[in-house]
Amino acid sequence: MAEQRLQKVLAAAGIDSRRNCEELIVSGVVRVNRKVVDELPAFVDPDTDVITVHGKRIGAARKVYFLLNKPKGVICTNSDPQGRKKAIDLIRTPERIFCVGRLDVDTTGIILLSNDSELANKLTHPRYGLAKTYVVEVKGQITGEQIEKLKKGIWLAEGKTGRASAKILKRGHKESLIEVTIRQGLNRQVRRMLAKVGLPVKSLKRTRIGKLTSRGLGAGKFRTLTGGEITYLEKIAAGQPARK
Ligand code: URA
Repeated sequence: MAEQRLQKVLAAAGIDSRRNCEELIVSGVVRVNRKVVDELPAFVDPDTDVITVHGKRIGAARKVYFLLNKPKGVICTNSDPQGRKKAIDLIRTPERIFCVGRLDVDTTGIILLSNDSELANKLTHPRYGLAKTYVVEVKGQITGEQIEKLKKGIWLAEGKTGRASAKILKRGHKESLIEVTIRQGLNRQVRRMLAKVGLPVKSLKRTRIGKLTSRGLGAGKFRTLTGGEITYLEKIAAGQPARK
């Protein structure tokens, strides 16, 4: 097999995300053919090189895929100096998994977790356009004009957001409920888009990722993806247009 970046090989073996594997490498706990490799870039041949992390040889990890209904107050990163509850703690599995993308600590709803960093990188890249749907409770009465603005795209610090779907589910004087579908994943994107049209978010819940839904999953519960669902995500990652 051709030489590959060391962090990519570690991530593919389920050690951690590529980014975190880079940190592991520079921290000096990774050896290739008995020699510490703590500088990047580093290239290895996973078929012939003996790679260890903390002295343990890596192998090809079984790929696992979960869908979690994240409750409020749970974070999506694998380490937290504040010691808050982590999404990975809610899933019982021996594999080293991580969140595919991110939900804010206050956002509830579905999130994928896996140890498949190749698939995760692709699914979170805007090029693949995986649709994510949110039900948002906002303060105040929403207008048709605000909905149109959301659909056309909103100027944020990173540039204009892509076209979105938005519809009113309930319009009240004090609060309204809307459904928003986006295909990007900028940091706090939905909250910032709504703030820009003058609607502070009271609660935010992700209800769909492509065709995956929260149906049957109570808050804090998870399930493994079916073979059909994994194939569906792999097709999206392979560049086949995401229909949902
Ligand atoms: N948009 C947000 O603002 N927050 C999330 O958690 C997800 C999307």
